[in-house]
Amino acid sequence: MSNLLNGKDILSGDQFNKDELNLIMDTAAYFERKVKNGEEIKNLLGTVVASLFFEPSTRTRLSFESAANRLGARVVSVSGSSNSSTAKGETLTDTIRTVDGYVDAIVMRHSMIGAADIAAKEAVHPVLNGGDGAGQHPTQALLDIYTMKKEKGTVGGLTVTFLGDLKYGRTVHSLGYFMNLYNNKMIFASPDSLKMPAEITADLRSKGANIVETEDAEAALAESDVVYVTRVQKERFEDVAEYEKVKGIYIINRDIINKSKPGITVMHPLPRVDEIALDVDDYEGAAYFRQAHNGMYIRMALLALVTGRI
Ligand code: NCD
Repeated sequence: MSNLLNGKDILSGDQFNKDELNLIMDTAAYFERKVKNGEEIKNLLGTVVASLFFEPSTRTRLSFESAANRLGARVVSVSGSSNSSTAKGETLTDTIRTVDGYVDAIVMRHSMIGAADIAAKEAVHPVLNGGDGAGQHPTQALLDIYTMKKEKGTVGGLTVTFLGDLKYGRTVHSLGYFMNLYNNKMIFASPDSLKMPAEITADLRSKGANIVETEDAEAALAESDVVYVTRVQKERFEDVAEYEKVKGIYIINRDIINKSKPGITVMHPLPRVDEIALDVDDYEGAAYFRQAHNGMYIRMALLALVTGRI
């Protein structure tokens, strides 16, 4: 298959077609095999990747940086907004214009919705969105479908429940588009105040999506092949009292799993706070740590594809 992503930015869940998604998953599987066989990988030898994380991150930053290192690239990074010129008042566009002259690709996480689009307009090199505020998180959603394919043997024809904070949780904003492309039924289970943004639900429905919205998590899980649990995004609430009202509203424990559809796969982008009880961790369908590990292979695939080095 030709490289459909050569030179492209990775910004949003709605930018992809199925051929591109399949190419990314196939390329991730190719790198996963190579890493597991202990083969030397040199696709990005001689290149430099910038890792700009202006918001907290563990998995996204470390898996991207590990991916770049494993491909033979070198990595330069900013972690936090207090130790770069952002703290001196530099604009995002000036920072990006500068960094773009140093590197071959830019991975960025920022607190502002649309920040990655601004960076992509400014940069000549590919920009990969590692999360823009409560906006999008396409690379997470890509590792999510890769995980679903490995866990379920397919990414299509499933019933998938998104549970928790669908308003501020950016991963589900991206994942909804992929679920629709592969013809899955989606159940959006959340308290009324944390519903999926109406523009996204309407956009998905206009593309033919099969969506049910509910507050009844147990009923949703009784018919779901996959439950994708999200953390209530405390850092996005303007009013702490509002957060206090909804925190801990859905907690998945072993009892709930026992009442759910047999074989249900439990996913979570992590970090979890209390929304998945520890007694779920040794349930065989608990996929969240395998999911986190899959992120590195997806990010190897993305870096190799957008830099045209595959
Ligand atoms: C997610 C994020 O940052 O949006 N984490 C991640 O990248 N794995 C989910 C979250 O923080 O709750």
